[in-house]
Amino acid sequence: MTLLPGTAPIAVPRPLPAWVQAAREEAVRPQPKIRSGQHRRALFADPHSVARDLAENVTTAWFSARGGSEIAIPIGVVAALSLIAPADDKGPDLGDQLLSKTPEELAELLRHIWSMHWIRRPDLIERALPFHDWLNHGDPAPDLLHAAHEAAHAAINSGLLDFTGHADPIFRDGVDILAGLVMNMRSKAQRAGNGEFYTPEVACDLMARVLLGTQTDLTPGMSFHDPAAGSGGMMRAAAQYMRELGLNPADFHWYMNDIDPIAVACCAANAIVWGLGPNVVIAKADSLAEPEWPTRALAERAEIIAHRDRTLDQAMTEAAWRRAARLLDQLTQPLERTA
Ligand SMILES: C[S@@+](CC[C@H](N)C(=O)[O-])C[C@H]1O[C@@H](n2cnc3c(N)ncnc32)[C@H](O)[C@@H]1O
Repeated sequence: MTLLPGTAPIAVPRPLPAWVQAAREEAVRPQPKIRSGQHRRALFADPHSVARDLAENVTTAWFSARGGSEIAIPIGVVAALSLIAPADDKGPDLGDQLLSKTPEELAELLRHIWSMHWIRRPDLIERALPFHDWLNHGDPAPDLLHAAHEAAHAAINSGLLDFTGHADPIFRDGVDILAGLVMNMRSKAQRAGNGEFYTPEVACDLMARVLLGTQTDLTPGMSFHDPAAGSGGMMRAAAQYMRELGLNPADFHWYMNDIDPIAVACCAANAIVWGLGPNVVIAKADSLAEPEWPTRALAERAEIIAHRDRTLDQAMTEAAWRRAARLLDQLTQPLERTA
């Protein structure tokens, strides 16, 4: 006999109510797995916390996958993904589409992104060479592709596309995604050696307000220069402030240089993401040793654009010749057959 309440066995088992039965069945039914490739959106999130999480997640993904010391590769993967936007807002989710790609398909897509942008802005894409050079010499090693693929997944799942893929430029230049990533990927010692401690975004925003003044102080055609540009964060804040004033950053001239080639590559990609327009001059240059660097950079830019024009002319001529040859074949074959 027991004196504890509620422990006496029930003599006749009663049938369970239907809803309890249903809940039990639901609990044991195997749940559909969330696809590993499903895009997690960061809509309505604070851009600065998204940037911070993204930097952390991409860094962890790259080093956990044993990506190695070439940090320009994962930063370049994020930069390339920043350069694309959904073709149709109501169409399929761009993140889902990207996440379904194999490492090899992703590499092919990255090549495509850089090539398409090279056609439009060869001056900037040439400056971003550290980001795409690894794709330009045949097929990269499978382990490198795997690590790049992991980095891409981490970036997309941290909400990258919700900012950089936004149709409104005020969202795109609201955050410098690459700055935090560069800082995170570099060791403290490396950062101290290069003096690479980028100004926090809120401080850049405040400086833009104080230094640029009001709309009447800003005349289209004015030039802005950061001689130690880092990833270009100061220019981002200036461009965003201009937009708030109803001005278009593309009507101004932007000069950015840095001695660090990865920082220069970030400036180049960011100039596209932030819509700084056609008058952007970027170069790897030591401001102390070469204060006149813009003269060299402008000459290089003219040569890069001329090279692009020649390449496209040649490609179009070749395509025209092929079309003409096909037409000629279609016209001449029947005659040859009847001859
Ligand atoms: C403190 S960070 C500032 C970056 C950016 N202006 C910002 O406010 O976020 C300094 C940057 O200057 C660059 N730098 C250091 N010495 C330089 C030099 N002699 N010429 C050009 N850039 C330099 C570093 O590589 C680094 O990216």
